[in-house]
Amino acid sequence: MQRILAHVKPERRDKELIYNPTYPIFWQRSMHFETIEQALSIFIPWVTPVLKLSGLYQRGARNAIDVQITPLTVVDPQLPAGFDGFRLLFMSDLHIDGNDALIEPLCALLDTVDADVCLLGGDYRFRMHGNLRKVMDRFREIVPHIHAKEGILGILGNHDSWEMIKPMERLGIVMLINESVDIERNGERIWILGVDDPHFYKCDDYHKANRAIPEQAFRILLAHSTNILAKFSDEPVSFCLCGHTHAGQIQLPIFGPIITHSHFKGEFIYGRWQYRHISGYTSSGAGTSGVNVRYNTRSELALITLRRQ
Ligand SMILES: [Fe+2]
Repeated sequence: MQRILAHVKPERRDKELIYNPTYPIFWQRSMHFETIEQALSIFIPWVTPVLKLSGLYQRGARNAIDVQITPLTVVDPQLPAGFDGFRLLFMSDLHIDGNDALIEPLCALLDTVDADVCLLGGDYRFRMHGNLRKVMDRFREIVPHIHAKEGILGILGNHDSWEMIKPMERLGIVMLINESVDIERNGERIWILGVDDPHFYKCDDYHKANRAIPEQAFRILLAHSTNILAKFSDEPVSFCLCGHTHAGQIQLPIFGPIITHSHFKGEFIYGRWQYRHISGYTSSGAGTSGVNVRYNTRSELALITLRRQ
């Protein structure tokens, strides 16, 4: 335990001790009540029985495991020439211990992808608390199916615990807790920055992650939620990758998503977006949380190709 404590950055550990979601006291839990939709979350346990009674459950469960590749091209003339065609596999919101039926189709799909680097966008656990053993067992199953030449990088989401960091790194996943790494090709570099959870624990620190990076560098920012953008003014981010919303997971016709857990709505819930000078992408995620169903949204792995023009 001491070895893990020494490894984990204190800001994450301390926030989890203060804002632990398993605390029963209302004012501590109320740290999460930033929107009215959060109040709707108390009805989540009723969703499965209602769907089963209505006969819609099986269709939603099938949708949840029908994970697909979403191809995406990001064009930026500032991209170093050696990285033209560089491919990033972005996999967010796995909630990997919550849906056993997802593992087989996910591994089969991963086997069809050859990427240069794999980026994990956080939310690996189904609940926000509880045992981590099944999460790690699942990762042990899926990591051999991830084919990425430069390796796997990850961040923590609001469902994750600092206790995951060391076991994930033992599996070869480099966890970025307000840190950055560079990838080098023929003397040129791009930088991947990873911040801690900006949604629930609010321990993201872009400036700390950016500290060692040269001014003109090409930067890809990995953040669990677009909430990080609220703190930005003129940060030199080349492209930003987020998850967290699940694209609403359940979208009603005409009305759209009911719960997104996000301050940023509209285009920021799913797909490509532009915030001031920063362009980015919010993934609908590979897994599901709360209820293992999807309606009018899809489970995805985003495969991003970087191009100079
Ligand atoms: Fe999630």
